[in-house]
Amino acid sequence: MRRKLAAGNWKMNGLAASLSELTALSDAISPDANTDVLICPPAPLLFRASDMANGIQIGAQDCHSNLEGAHTGDLSASMIADAGASFAIVGHSERREGHHEDDSDIRGKARAAHSAGLTAIICIGESEEERTTGKTLDVLGTQLAGSCPDDATATNTVIAYEPIWAIGTGKVPTQEQIVEVHDFLREKLVARFGDDGSNMRLLYGGSVKASNAATIFEADNVDGALVGGASLKASDFAPIVTALQAS
Ligand code: 13P
Repeated sequence: MRRKLAAGNWKMNGLAASLSELTALSDAISPDANTDVLICPPAPLLFRASDMANGIQIGAQDCHSNLEGAHTGDLSASMIADAGASFAIVGHSERREGHHEDDSDIRGKARAAHSAGLTAIICIGESEEERTTGKTLDVLGTQLAGSCPDDATATNTVIAYEPIWAIGTGKVPTQEQIVEVHDFLREKLVARFGDDGSNMRLLYGGSVKASNAATIFEADNVDGALVGGASLKASDFAPIVTALQAS
């Protein structure tokens, strides 16, 4: 059985004072042996967040594909691990778009994360235009194949499906659309990775809130969520964690 994962991506939000939300979150949720809870704060908070995590896992929002060297301003996967984090998100659509990252860059980042002992959360997702012109599965198949390195296992890799048009918009795909995509991704992962593909966790992301989480988590191949806005406050994120635990 796959462990569930409730992951919060704070994006470029949060100062040191926001770390009190981590304490509030661990107070608000009951530990569950089958559910991981993860917060990915901005990089300057990684050390302190890891120190006070209290059962909550900590992750970064990106890493460089090289292990070290002359890359001013970048973070290596080993620096992230050294800060106490255990996950790194790679290939978020905001980085694909804002930093022109392509599948091959993201594959390199995931490989770097793996070599530092981190679990990579590889994000993929279609644009609204790709959705309306019927290209969703083609686009996702290409992104999955290109972004996922050959060394991916069920332990070191999580895939997050985040339709770009659903991120921060309040628009959520229908349950049928989520099931169609997640079943398709599962099929592709099993074809490529066998048992690891069956056991690799698949998250849905894009406007997940306490009010829609339980329905989204009903789908067999949805193993959790990658949550942006609703992860910033413990009072918004805790009910999502609870809905996942109950699913
Ligand atoms: P929202 O939950 O704010 O839509 O963001 C989703 C996301 O991009 C998480 O990585």
